Parts: sequence; structure tokens; C-alpha cells
Amino acid sequence: MAEILLRAEDLEVYYATRAGVVKAVDRVRFEMGRGETLGLVGESGCGKSTLGFSILRLVPPPGKIVGGDIIFAGENLLEKDEEEMRKIRGSRISMIFQDPMTCLDPLERIGDHIVETITTHDQGIKRAEAWKRAEEMLDRLGIDPSRLEDYPHQLSGGMRQRVMIALALILNSELVIADEPTTSLDVIVEAQILDLLKQLKEDYELTLMLITHNMGIVAELADRVAVMYAAKMVEVAEALPLYEKPMHPYTQGLLRSIPNISLTEQVLATMPGSPPDLIRPPSGCRFHPRCPYVKDECKEIEPPMREVEREHLVACHLY
Ligand SMILES: Nc1ncnc2c1ncn2[C@@H]1O[C@H](COP(=O)(O)OP(=O)(O)OP(=O)(O)O)[C@@H](O)[C@H]1O
Ligand code: SF4
Ligand SMILES: [Mg+2]
Repeated sequence: MAEILLRAEDLEVYYATRAGVVKAVDRVRFEMGRGETLGLVGESGCGKSTLGFSILRLVPPPGKIVGGDIIFAGENLLEKDEEEMRKIRGSRISMIFQDPMTCLDPLERIGDHIVETITTHDQGIKRAEAWKRAEEMLDRLGIDPSRLEDYPHQLSGGMRQRVMIALALILNSELVIADEPTTSLDVIVEAQILDLLKQLKEDYELTLMLITHNMGIVAELADRVAVMYAAKMVEVAEALPLYEKPMHPYTQGLLRSIPNISLTEQVLATMPGSPPDLIRPPSGCRFHPRCPYVKDECKEIEPPMREVEREHLVACHLY
């Protein structure tokens, strides 16, 4: 791996609820190299968004980071004060959300929003100059720069997502976290946005964390893949080896559930069993109630993450 840009160590993020403590991210560790795209996958509720938000220290209440370290460019983000974090957000680490409307102010023109983002982080820059930069960025992302005058509701879903990407890139963020960036779009617009991300990845040498439950999207874009199951990392590997030889039984199941477009009848195997309760997760290996290869020790001993092949890490007693 190239220079390591981000490293999480034993990260723990909990939501204290009336029903009990939801351990949404449970002693997770992973790394991201500068310039790489890491696909973070796993079924709904496994903790992907919580992990993404925790890197920006923006886990929504009652969520709390209760343990571990997040080392970004050599510094521990969990030791920063709120003022320091505000400076990092948007300028060094930025996030693209599934629904751009959650971040765009309906009463503000797109141009004003982008200009404010620029001037907040660079107080020396003149407004006209910032506006020009916004125009250039929109043009780069395939939107007519005159749309800077528009309000969010005047743009299509795909264009709004491009504006979100513009906001993420305008300050040259080192790390971009994209949480289901295309889920709310139709398939044609989704394909356009994915192509755009692919291009930007190369042009800007982006380090991108791409959160999705869509293994097809990961296959298109990711250099490496991290698979989460029930708040734990279960497999991390380079994309090709992971697709060719998934090792964890859960990953094998995920890959079986990709629709095979070469078949006339699309087969979409669903994984048997239901996702576990994160307040009282299963003992030992959390996947054991659904695993076709379960052994006695799986029910009692949690499998540690091990490097089974070069740069291919798996947490499973089979290896
Ligand atoms: N505000 C909250 N209060 C309590 N529990 C929460 C809250 N937000 C998330 N959780 C719980 O934390 C766990 C992880 O949720 P998270 O949203 O991170 O999952 P996810 O992998 O992003 O799912 P999805 O694919 O549906 O977006 C889930 O069990 C969820 O119910
Ligand atoms: S540790 Fe056991 S139960 Fe868990 S995935 Fe591996 S074989 Fe299945
Ligand atoms: Mg999510």
C-alpha cells in the first residue's frame, strides 16, 4: 500500500438507546492508502454510515465514539478539539451523502453555498474569485456554470449530486467519504455519476471511501474492499482477489447475491436468516447463526482478523 492516509484502530461507536446499547461499530480496524478507493460494503444496519460519520466526528446523537483511535495524516482525530475538527471538515475530509438535500439550504443559491464553503476556509479570497472557482468546478463536473444562480429545487437529482461532489472537491479534500452517493438516482444517472467519480478519482488523485451495499458499484470503482458484518470488519482485500476468491462465508453470500446480467432470468439469491441484533449480538462469530460452515468453536470464540494471503485479511475460523 502507498502512504497510509487513514488508519482506524479498535474503533468503537455506540448508540445508547432505551432498549440498550447499540454497538454499531465494534473494535474495527482498517487502513486507507493515499489515492486509493476503498469500498465499504455490508447489509443494511451493519454500521457503515456510523463508521463514515465517525471519521468526521459527526456521529448523530445519541451516537458516541467510545473507544479507539482515528489517525488521519499522522494525527489522531479523536484528540482534536471541536474548532480543529471544523477546520478539517470540508477542507481536508469531506462527505457526499445519499440525499444532497440534507446539506443544501433550499433558500440559498448553489453558487452562494459553494462560495461560502470556499471563503469560510480561505478568508483571504475575494468573493468574485471564489465565484469564478465555483464556475470552473461546475463546468468540470458537467453542469453549465450559469446554474450557480439556481436554488437546489431547480436542479435534478443527478445535478444536485454533482453539486455535492463540487462541494467535496472545491477545497481539494484529501479524503472524500461518499455514503451511498447514487442510491436515490435512477440507473442512467447513477451510471453517469459513477463514471464521473471514476474520472475524478484519476484527475484529483482522490482518496475515496465509497460506502454502498451494492457490490456491482464496488466492482466498478474500488481498489480495495472492506466487508462489514454486524459492526465488525470480516474481510478486507484488494478488489480483484476478493471477487475472484472471497474467503469469508458472508462475503461469499454477498457476491452470490449480485444479479447476473448474463442470465435471461436474473437470479438474486438472498442470504438466509436475518441481520443480528446489535444490542445482543450472537456469541463467538456473529455470522454463526447464518453460516453454512459453522463449527462448535464458532459459537464460542470470536475469530480474530488474520492475514490469510498477502494483503487479504479474514476473520473466520476456517482459515
Ligand atoms: N440514531 C440512532 N439511534 C440508535 N441506533 C442507531 C442510530 N443510528 C443508527 N443506529 C443503529 O446503528 C446500527 C448501524 O447503523 P448504520 O446506519 O451505521 O448502518 P448502515 O450500515 O449504514 O445501514 P444502511 O445500509 O441501511 O445505511 C444499526 O443497528 C442502527 O439501527
Ligand atoms: S467463523 Fe465459523 S461461523 Fe463464522 S464465518 Fe467462519 S465458519 Fe462461519
Ligand atoms: Mg448507511
